Amino acid sequence: MELRTATAADWPGIWPFLREIVDAGETYTWPRDVTEDDARRRWLVGPPGRTVVAVDPDGTVLGSAKLVPNQEGPGDHVANAGFMVAPAAAGRGVGRALGAYVLDLARAEGYRAMQFNAVVASNTRAVALWRSLGFDVVGRVPEGFRHPHLGLVDLLVMYRRLG
Ligand SMILES: CC(C)(COP(=O)(O)OP(=O)(O)OC[C@H]1O[C@@H](n2cnc3c(N)ncnc32)[C@H](O)[C@@H]1OP(=O)(O)O)[C@@H](O)C(=O)NCCC(=O)NCCS
Repeated sequence: MELRTATAADWPGIWPFLREIVDAGETYTWPRDVTEDDARRRWLVGPPGRTVVAVDPDGTVLGSAKLVPNQEGPGDHVANAGFMVAPAAAGRGVGRALGAYVLDLARAEGYRAMQFNAVVASNTRAVALWRSLGFDVVGRVPEGFRHPHLGLVDLLVMYRRLG
């Protein structure tokens, strides 16, 4: 698996699994019926943001991540990131590899810390992964997310320093 900066040519490989994940409505605070244009604008971010992909030797995009400042101005030393792994490739270490890669990238770009604003508390795989990569839960928004099967669940704010 290769990890590298995404290009516009990667979008057709990202969109099918991004749409599947967003449409499921279980993990992202995006409109579930997001259009392809809106999704591309949200995911293929311009500078200072960065989008990366994990690609199979045969060229299949297995997952993707984006790294952006979490705030502007005096808050832009804290990074934010988002991750999506194709459901067909889940549980094979792609998310962990993307997480480690994005943490290194954030350090290299001079960020001092990374914050996730809205980790759905029922997303146990993601919460376990972020904890194992050094993140702590620093906040909890009670019933901040309407899960399609579980109803109202909490949103977690997760944070770790870099460096
Ligand atoms: C969360 C996500 C990025 C994880 O990616 P992944 O490639 O499946 O994860 P990995 O294979 O690297 O596994 C990471 C950890 O998840 C956990 N995990 C893996 N498979 C699991 C399973 N079937 N059930 C529960 N936990 C599991 C393990 O703790 C694993 O750690 P390990 O490396 O010590 O075994 C991916 O499931 C995803 O894109 N989900 C939908 C979108 C999303 O939730 N994004 C994150 C929003 S905060």
